[in-house]
Amino acid sequence: MKAIVYEDRCGADGLKINNVENPAAHKNEILVKVAATALNRADILQREGKYSPPQGASPILGLEISGVVEEVGQDVTKWQRGDKVFGLLPGGGYAEYAIIHEDMAMKIPRSLNFWEAAAIPEVFLTAYQSLVWHSKLKAGESVLIHAGASGVGTAAIQIVKAIGATVFVTASKEKHDACLGLGAVKAIDYKTENFPDKIKEYTGNKGVNVIIDFIAGPYFKKNIECLNEDGRLIILASLGGGTVDEFDLRQILSKRISVIGSTLRSRSLDYQIRLTKDFSSYALDKFNTGKLRPVVGKIFKIEEAAEAHKYMEANKNSGKIVLKVNDL
Ligand SMILES: NC(=O)c1ccc[n+]([C@@H]2O[C@H](COP(=O)([O-])OP(=O)(O)OC[C@H]3O[C@@H](n4cnc5c(N)ncnc54)[C@H](OP(=O)(O)O)[C@@H]3O)[C@@H](O)[C@H]2O)c1
Repeated sequence: MKAIVYEDRCGADGLKINNVENPAAHKNEILVKVAATALNRADILQREGKYSPPQGASPILGLEISGVVEEVGQDVTKWQRGDKVFGLLPGGGYAEYAIIHEDMAMKIPRSLNFWEAAAIPEVFLTAYQSLVWHSKLKAGESVLIHAGASGVGTAAIQIVKAIGATVFVTASKEKHDACLGLGAVKAIDYKTENFPDKIKEYTGNKGVNVIIDFIAGPYFKKNIECLNEDGRLIILASLGGGTVDEFDLRQILSKRISVIGSTLRSRSLDYQIRLTKDFSSYALDKFNTGKLRPVVGKIFKIEEAAEAHKYMEANKNSGKIVLKVNDL
């Protein structure tokens, strides 16, 4: 089959399409003919040699797919050849065929095409896990989402709104309309505005209940300043750096703040299956009714994987970058 291959520690131009061996479905796995996959920052880090795939995972990039079941392993009970599925994988999505565990696959909602379905798994599962499982967000609360136009950010805005909470975001100015269109009530230009001042202004000095953060180091003190009592800070990445100097921890104590770090790919299969099941029952109908929608920012052909990586590296996307693989 054709797949995107690369030399370890290469730049985006090192991504090439080549022939590799087809994968085979064992036991509870299904072999999917891939219609589309989507980009994640983890793909860039893996290509650069900064993020190894978990043990046993395909070395091929790609953490999510949509497509059609081609073959099922001997113990599979849920799916049959021809079913349209999408879901999260530990690797292997940038290829004509990929393997997914039967319990990690979800049925594509009837209202969505393959490109839209491929844009869901990583960002919606991450946003759902952060907001529902970790922060236990309730209706009437308020949330600050950093990088609001990112893949995870665009999913998170919609889930916060569906829960009945208020969303504020930070994002580059040119991405504000995308965030406001999805349900954010205010967008802050973090390049020209001091976001804690704006959050105090918007919340009458109370602060927000939850923050979803990808920037880490340079935002940590400001995030603590923005949180109300019993606030929850969910840290998902360290795009701005990983260190903080001179910080008075008593602010966390006095406001009873919870600081939670989280990952998805490194979680056990059992955890990921529980999350996928819980998310499916919460979200799949909402995609059909339009209450939630995948945000596809840009579509590239699989042969253009290098261009797609450069597009993400330049922070040009709002929502997901999708790669079309097979015409199905
Ligand atoms: N822990 C987990 O479970 C988990 C799961 C999925 C993803 N992630 C991580 O979460 C992050 C977001 O993922 P994604 O796929 O949603 O990303 P994405 O769609 O590529 O969006 C990232 C956006 O973040 C903003 N940004 C980048 N560097 C920044 C900086 N130094 N300061 C402020 N803003 C910055 C940019 O938007 P602006 O133009 O608005 O600045 C950029 O477009 C990534 O680092 C990813 O690896 C973590």
